[in-house]
Amino acid sequence: MHKKLYKSIIDELCPEGNWKLRCSIEKLLNAKINQLPCRDVTGEETRYPTDRASMKAFLETFFARHYFQVQKSLVEYLTSSEFYDSLTTKEFNILDIGSGPAVASLAVTEMLDCILGARNEAGIHKLRVNYVLNDTENICLGIDQELLRNYFRSQSPQRISCGHVFSMEKGFPSNFGQLERVARNLGLYDLIILSYVLKPLHNDLGLKNIANALSMLQGISKPNGRIMIIQDKFSKALVGNVSRLIGQSFKKETLAQHIYSENNDNETYTYSYYTCLFAPTGLSVNARAV
Ligand SMILES: C[S@@+](CC[C@H](N)C(=O)[O-])C[C@H]1O[C@@H](n2cnc3c(N)ncnc32)[C@H](O)[C@@H]1O
Repeated sequence: MHKKLYKSIIDELCPEGNWKLRCSIEKLLNAKINQLPCRDVTGEETRYPTDRASMKAFLETFFARHYFQVQKSLVEYLTSSEFYDSLTTKEFNILDIGSGPAVASLAVTEMLDCILGARNEAGIHKLRVNYVLNDTENICLGIDQELLRNYFRSQSPQRISCGHVFSMEKGFPSNFGQLERVARNLGLYDLIILSYVLKPLHNDLGLKNIANALSMLQGISKPNGRIMIIQDKFSKALVGNVSRLIGQSFKKETLAQHIYSENNDNETYTYSYYTCLFAPTGLSVNARAV
């Protein structure tokens, strides 16, 4: 980690120890929330939105929380010399599996823009980011394209330009052939994120198949890239079992953040979650660890 750079990014995104959306992102989020209809939705629908009303609930409840967790989990790596030195092609490919409304993709984009801006004096040129957004719900794929487009239109990030944006509706890992084809055309993925999708994958596939699916990602990742899993504090056993199966460590993280709701504008709350971040070259599936 580059200490000075790390501190300047934390000061910007997490002032006084509380993660906070920058005004521009907050505006983008509120604009989308205001366009969506109100209806009473269940907790499950809020977590896994399937229509416009449940998407509104997801954006209100989970967007900022997951966004900050992605940023906090990646800030050390993205401010490291190792990461900076790996940016040789001026292209950066993100695969966001279970993207929802592009939460992780937006979080990474904004943080990359801050980091490259802070390193301005080092003379790096604009980075072109290509996105592969994968979700099984139509509503997510529609809204994520919109949010990304609006982000680039309204923020005009200084250091990032938007390259290709692919939406993929077929679920992971059945879509692996498609992911490979895109990687052949775009180049291997620099960053593969599975943010809050481990649970549905576990329900569909079971532990061993998740581990095998993750090991397949090795073949489409840049060797010096990263794969990241994030899941809530109630999923310690699941994240722990998957991590053990693929021979990686995982850790508990805690972060304090501003609450985004009409009534609680100045409140903060602390959330815990689990994260597993690793280079694809270190991946090995250990079937005996189940
Ligand atoms: C809890 S949301 C998380 C959204 C976002 N990644 C975040 O961190 O806020 C999980 C998403 O994964 C999607 N999903 C479930 N199973 C999937 C699969 N097999 N492949 C791709 N997406 C999947 C769901 O439709 C849902 O939108």
